[in-house]
Amino acid sequence: MSPSQRGTHVIVVGNEKGGSGKTTVAMHLTVALLKSGFRVGAVDLDLRQKSFWRYLENRAKWGVAQELSLEELPMPKFLPIHGSQHDSRHTARQLEAEEFSRTLMDFADCDFLVIDTPGADTHLSRLAHTHADTIVTPLNDSFVDFDMLARIDPENGEILGPSLYSELVWNARQQRAAAGVMGGIDWLVMRNRVQSTRSLNKVALADRIEDLSKRVQFRQARGFGERVIYRELFTNGMTLFDLGGRGSPRKFGSMSHLAARSEVRGFIAALRLPQLAERREAA
Ligand SMILES: Nc1ncnc2c1ncn2[C@@H]1O[C@H](COP(=O)(O)OP(=O)(O)OP(=O)(O)O)[C@@H](O)[C@H]1O
Ligand SMILES: [Mg+2]
Repeated sequence: MSPSQRGTHVIVVGNEKGGSGKTTVAMHLTVALLKSGFRVGAVDLDLRQKSFWRYLENRAKWGVAQELSLEELPMPKFLPIHGSQHDSRHTARQLEAEEFSRTLMDFADCDFLVIDTPGADTHLSRLAHTHADTIVTPLNDSFVDFDMLARIDPENGEILGPSLYSELVWNARQQRAAAGVMGGIDWLVMRNRVQSTRSLNKVALADRIEDLSKRVQFRQARGFGERVIYRELFTNGMTLFDLGGRGSPRKFGSMSHLAARSEVRGFIAALRLPQLAERREAA
């Protein structure tokens, strides 16, 4: 099956916890897929911060300023979504559902659609989760972030039950099944900003994530380390995959850059995207 016959694979990057790395992951994923030759769409549902949108705007501006071709600096198709300000909550939701469906149609010519979501529970974010083929949840290496996925017994550290975000994904899975959409939602949790030092907290958290993955059915992907380079590239709209070429704002080549690029590649392999496997087989 060719990617276009397969339809657009929707990847939602989500976690109601703010600052967990959603936009950083969305941006690197988008550019990695573009660099693999796929047609990629991008939507920012964080209507307040619009960081993914701004990242992409910065990229487009940088490309113009440096006179870079689309081969040198590939761009996704990115379209705005506005949400509804209607007074009636019911009508607002209906309008947003219609707008969201239209937006999905606008990306029908793409192999992938990467959707970044806000660190909050919004109607548009819920809609996106029900349309996801893959959900990626970055999680800071901390029990404060883990609390969004599960409640923990403070006495013995055992998991008491799923919490807000796990329930949101569970509902999305139910709704998708009820709507008769083929295939389930593949949910991946990745740890972000992982420190290189070993600590008791890190080990305990890894154990809890492992326990929870079996209970609420997600897979774990190797995460990103805590690295300055992930914070430095926003104003140029760059990712690790763009460094070193013509017009690059930074040189590529330090050990940390190499390690970072390898961990992002490892993360993308862990997504097991069918289109990537098909391409490998065809090569
Ligand atoms: N692996 C990392 N190493 C170092 N800094 C990182 C890493 N991942 C993300 N950051 C930085 O952490 C901050 C939050 O990341 P990001 O904006 O991607 O999170 P977010 O989940 O999208 O946040 P929000 O919920 O506010 O939308 C940013 O300043 C980003 O540059
Ligand atoms: Mg964000």
